Amino acid sequence: MTNIAILGFGVVGSGVAEVITKNKALIEEKTGEKINIKYILDLRDFPGSPFEHLVVHDFQTILRDPEVTVVAEMMGGSHPAYDFSKACLEAGKSVVTSNKEVVSNFGAELLETAAKNKTAYLFEASVGGGIPIIRPILNDLSSNRIINISGILNGTTNYILTKMENEGAAFEDVLNDAKKKGYAEANPTADIEGIDAARKIVILAALSFGKLADPSKIHTEGITEITSDDVSIAKKMGYAVKLIGYTSVIDGKILCMVSPRLVSQANPLSGINDVFNGILVSADMVGEVMFYGPGAGKLPTASAVCADIVDIVMHRKTQMKLPAWEKASEDDLFEFEKYRCRRLFIFRSPEADSAAAVKQISDVFGSISGFVFENGKTCFISDEMSEKEAVELSGKCPLELIKMYRLL
Ligand code: HSE
Repeated sequence: MTNIAILGFGVVGSGVAEVITKNKALIEEKTGEKINIKYILDLRDFPGSPFEHLVVHDFQTILRDPEVTVVAEMMGGSHPAYDFSKACLEAGKSVVTSNKEVVSNFGAELLETAAKNKTAYLFEASVGGGIPIIRPILNDLSSNRIINISGILNGTTNYILTKMENEGAAFEDVLNDAKKKGYAEANPTADIEGIDAARKIVILAALSFGKLADPSKIHTEGITEITSDDVSIAKKMGYAVKLIGYTSVIDGKILCMVSPRLVSQANPLSGINDVFNGILVSADMVGEVMFYGPGAGKLPTASAVCADIVDIVMHRKTQMKLPAWEKASEDDLFEFEKYRCRRLFIFRSPEADSAAAVKQISDVFGSISGFVFENGKTCFISDEMSEKEAVELSGKCPLELIKMYRLL
């Protein structure tokens, strides 16, 4: 029998208890062992819950109990989640987590602590919710060099953008809906400002390139500036607006970034809607592979956490081993200002004078085709250019720049 403890009985923590209870027979058949939830750590009591009797309020009860060999940390936030995880690993207990904030900020150190103590730190649920992505990158793509990864990595924002596009719904209403459904973070600023996606893309970059960038240092934009008008202009031009996490190696340096991007209808990421996530991995031998599924929510995320628990129980000696990560230095990271891509520019211009607007734009940007005019705006897609060039050229144009979107 394996005794486990659950730290944090919120959306995901209670989901883990539910998965382990509902699929008890199946899990026992697969592992050949009983998985027993011995403790649930939370500040709250849960009167009436079938797990009420397992609730403890003192972490030391779990830490000091040698019978607990696996700890599932679903507390969210950095502290005390990091401190408890570290203490468990140092005590020789394995830790599994869905906490992308901790993995992206302290993953290098916690993996080292796990290795030193001959135990495991696994985090399949930290990226893509229920989608298997960490194991496939580490195991199934292990004979490949990863070229780049682009992903819709946040369920809440994809849910909001989908409702804005399809129903013209108001931002706040859809966000409240996402909160009720258990998709959004406790503080949804992390979702809508792209911070959650930034944490996830640095984890994917570390798995792919071995170096963990500080998520607060990478270029990060959220979805708060996207208007329904922008979404409709993009749609007219054959693109969907998606919040994309992107990583690749350029000139030997790692680029990680998060921003809204225009995704062409030919790209499978353009068709990923609602709370679903999609992660497109381009690798040198396999080509492109896409991972798709529910990116947030109680049971999908719990399903991924339980996969790590089962892995530890089933394969104590052969379970997934994560290679050490180094912390990325400033010099390891590609300068975002040099990143080149095509862009959609939206300039303000009087509707009646579109020919004049086209001339003013072409004088600066060179010959452009495929202008779209909408509600006093002149819109076009440029050739590839860097961030620096985009700022310089739009500054030279006499028209007012309203918005600029990068194409994926
Ligand atoms: N708030 C996150 C999301 C939860 O919406 O994707 C899953 O990591």
